[in-house]
Amino acid sequence: MSKEIVVAIDGPAGAGKSTVAKALANALKLKYLDTGAMFRAVTSLALISGTDVHDEAGVGSVAETMDLVMEDGSVVANGVDVTTDIRSIAVTNAVSTVAANSRVRSNMRDRQRKWSELNSGGVIEGRDIGTVVFPDAVLKVYLTASPRVRAERRVAEAGGNIDEIERSIAERDLKDSTRADSPLQESADSVVVDTSNRAIDEIVNSIVALVSDRLK
Ligand code: DC
Repeated sequence: MSKEIVVAIDGPAGAGKSTVAKALANALKLKYLDTGAMFRAVTSLALISGTDVHDEAGVGSVAETMDLVMEDGSVVANGVDVTTDIRSIAVTNAVSTVAANSRVRSNMRDRQRKWSELNSGGVIEGRDIGTVVFPDAVLKVYLTASPRVRAERRVAEAGGNIDEIERSIAERDLKDSTRADSPLQESADSVVVDTSNRAIDEIVNSIVALVSDRLK
């Protein structure tokens, strides 16, 4: 049996994955990995280097040659601090094209598995963590929330027009869930948690209880 304890947190944009996953990692004394930030870092480097995000071979090689350091919330790719840039509108608009690239996905998968090995597991958030990257995770949580609530959260974080944001979230969800390689989907053995009208503490406590139960 593997000594790695992986808790997979998957779900669409704005479902509360980062907030829940960070608090959960803290409560469980596990490391936290934001895999969306990894796809965003590849996207940021591609844009910086002028690589067309639709150029599969070009973006594939950006991913494969990327030196990525993620520490304490900062993201440094090829020596460039891209922590802020990965949240820019340009990166957000291009990232689902990059995330549909199989060479990129395969490389990110390898990095995520290596990270877990090094850290004896962790709380890992993404889209395909429970379904593809860590099918043997101790617990798989699929977080969701109504489209309006998800858009409201994004507006609260970064401002913007709620209707436009709701539309752009829906577009990204559609791309992420209909792509051929590792689409966003619930896994048969995931616990589905709707975060629309629940307090974070209560959600985190209930997931901690589920993990403790699984580890008995
Ligand atoms: O969670 P996020 O919004 O930072 O994710 C950015 C993009 O990366 C999003 O379009 C989905 C994609 N992604 C993915 O395909 N697989 C993951 N494990 C994590 C993110």
